[in-house]
Amino acid sequence: MSLAAEICEHYDNQPDALIEILHDVQKVGGFIQTDALRAIAEALNISRAEVQGVVSFYDDFRLEPAPAGTVKLCRGEACQATGSDQLATDLKAAHMPSEQVFCLGNCALGPAAMIEGQLIGRANVDKIKAQRSVFKTEGK
Ligand code: FES
Repeated sequence: MSLAAEICEHYDNQPDALIEILHDVQKVGGFIQTDALRAIAEALNISRAEVQGVVSFYDDFRLEPAPAGTVKLCRGEACQATGSDQLATDLKAAHMPSEQVFCLGNCALGPAAMIEGQLIGRANVDKIKAQRSVFKTEGK
């Protein structure tokens, strides 16, 4: 049984749980692979087009791995209140690839960002650049 099928089984193969299933599959693999789309459709007894439609509707889901060094920028409410919108603009101006996520579990220290698994609280462009250089120095 594939991992995607196991995740579906965890949700009793309920089509209503499609979004949670997709989140779990992406969390494990970093993105949603073509085989997973097929396995999910089979397990939930829905068409692959339905699964694909949900994946393409939500910006959160990705069908390819994110480029190395991509900044995950939290756009949850707490982080929006502490400047994540401005930080997104600043990252774009600094030509740093970023993707939006919703809540990194660091709401008290927003805006929160994550790069290569390292959480950054009260994030700003300088802190993110510093973390990226650590990442490059360590040759990851
Ligand atoms: S809302 Fe941003 S870390 Fe929770």
